Amino acid sequence: MTASIFREWTEDCTKGWGQKPLKISHTLHEHPLFSPDGLAELIQRYPIEHYSLIRTSSVGEAKKVWRRGEVGDLTGREVIDKIAAGGLWLQLRELKSVDPRYYDLVQEIYGEVRERVPGFNSFGHEMGILISSPYAKAHYHADLPGQALWQIAGSKRVYLYPAEEPYLPQAELEKIALTGLEVGLRYDPEFERQALVFDLKPGEMLTWELNAPHRVENHGELSISMTTEHWTEEIRRSQMVTMANGILRQHFGVAPKRRQIAGPAFWAKASLQAGWRRSPWFKRERRRVLPVDFRLGRSANNPIVDIPAYIVR
Ligand SMILES: [Fe+2]
Repeated sequence: MTASIFREWTEDCTKGWGQKPLKISHTLHEHPLFSPDGLAELIQRYPIEHYSLIRTSSVGEAKKVWRRGEVGDLTGREVIDKIAAGGLWLQLRELKSVDPRYYDLVQEIYGEVRERVPGFNSFGHEMGILISSPYAKAHYHADLPGQALWQIAGSKRVYLYPAEEPYLPQAELEKIALTGLEVGLRYDPEFERQALVFDLKPGEMLTWELNAPHRVENHGELSISMTTEHWTEEIRRSQMVTMANGILRQHFGVAPKRRQIAGPAFWAKASLQAGWRRSPWFKRERRRVLPVDFRLGRSANNPIVDIPAYIVR
């Protein structure tokens, strides 16, 4: 395929890639892999160990709900309709290992970036699809790899914050790096003064600087978006330093300030975090998972059917 995925790429995109928020037009909402039929077919055969179907409180529901479930025997179309009705989101993770066509696509995307941004060389690409209910929200958080959010259907509002104190406390970022869990960051309504707000429509994508905290709100319609993740040598080294600083802070009571990604201090930290990754502590921290305890049902008045809880690894 020679058609371009990015549309209207400008000089500003080349200069700002990975350094600042960029909203760029794209063509993926017209791609057959993201058509309603393509997505429905994908959902129906998606392995449960690679998806998270989460039931949350719907709009106006006072009780706080957070449960993991399975799509059961519903067709992909029916699953999408259930999500459109509210209180659910479905995340299809590790697309590239489930279906090689998505692997080719994510490689193509980053190939286009490499052609356009001198010196950009990425690896460890991941791709996921998030289908979420009207008014669904993603809480204030930060991600470790380089990130981009691609809107396919529906629309959402993304709030981006500076990747620095007090929006992103180093100790919090270290915790995320050490546990691998996407724990939320402490949010303060004061942060809104510095927020950059973007509305994303189908055919628009957003990327931002590494680790920049963000939160997302769907508008009043079903949203289908795609996320891509990537690593570069610089991002990988930054992650190693974050992890090593976290070990120093949590286990040795040191408050590290330095973040060099080269030289002797870096290599000392690189070996410190490598040791941690092999330790039983690391494995224990990463073990907490939410059990599956419902499946989607067909009836409109009972979309959730309770089932005996089990763990998916
Ligand atoms: Fe995120």
